[in-house]
Amino acid sequence: MIEAARQRLIFALDVDSCAAAERWVEQLHDKVGLFKVGKQLFTRCGPDIVRRIQERGGQVFLDLKYHDIPNTVARATVEACRLGVKMVNVHALGGPTMMRETVAAVNECCAAEKIERPVLLAVTILTSSDQETLRAVGIDRPVEEMVPHLAKLAQQAGLDGVVASPREVSLIRRACGNDFVIVTPGVRPAFASVDDQKRITPPAEAIACGADYLVVGRPIAKAADPREAATAILEEMAQALTEANHG
Ligand code: C5P
Repeated sequence: MIEAARQRLIFALDVDSCAAAERWVEQLHDKVGLFKVGKQLFTRCGPDIVRRIQERGGQVFLDLKYHDIPNTVARATVEACRLGVKMVNVHALGGPTMMRETVAAVNECCAAEKIERPVLLAVTILTSSDQETLRAVGIDRPVEEMVPHLAKLAQQAGLDGVVASPREVSLIRRACGNDFVIVTPGVRPAFASVDDQKRITPPAEAIACGADYLVVGRPIAKAADPREAATAILEEMAQALTEANHG
């Protein structure tokens, strides 16, 4: 089960230099399944950072949350596929046409160029947005309705899953079923500090709720021994996976 847990653990590479990112990959590549590259690192290092991570034995979740006109998002996502990333995301608020065109372009490119198709995810409502934020931009529906609604739109457009807070997992499971991938950040094991996360969930609970992948940054990065912290998280996840399989 430790290997199953490892494949589901994503380390957030929230650093501001290529050298720091490379050090983390060298240190953790056998402990985590994917390294999440976000806007900060990508803007600093460029797409070359993906190759550098791969050369050091890591796989990449490219977390750039594309949101633009359909053609632009489709073309950008195709370029992400050509970089060989294993997971990539767009904003569901970009709409059904944007998501459908992206899926079609990705499928075509991956088939033609014999690239393994990455897991295509949508972001629904950012967890930093509350009801007030939505109202300010003219959305009156409750967040608890918007999240499963957007997840369903993503699924109908052919995307594989969503990024969501652990507390949204059951709403999304109900709307989209068990085969839809759910990736959750905001995970905190008992030994780690809360940092700036407002709603936190222990790794075992996130797995028990039905999350498929967990994104973890500071609980590993700020630990006195990051490898030991990653191991403790993996053990907790493996235990929860065993219980979920037998439950
Ligand atoms: O350090 P920590 O474990 O809080 O890192 C979580 C990672 O997940 C960060 O890269 C953060 O930007 C990302 N994230 C999040 N909450 C979301 C979406 C992404 O914390 N709703």
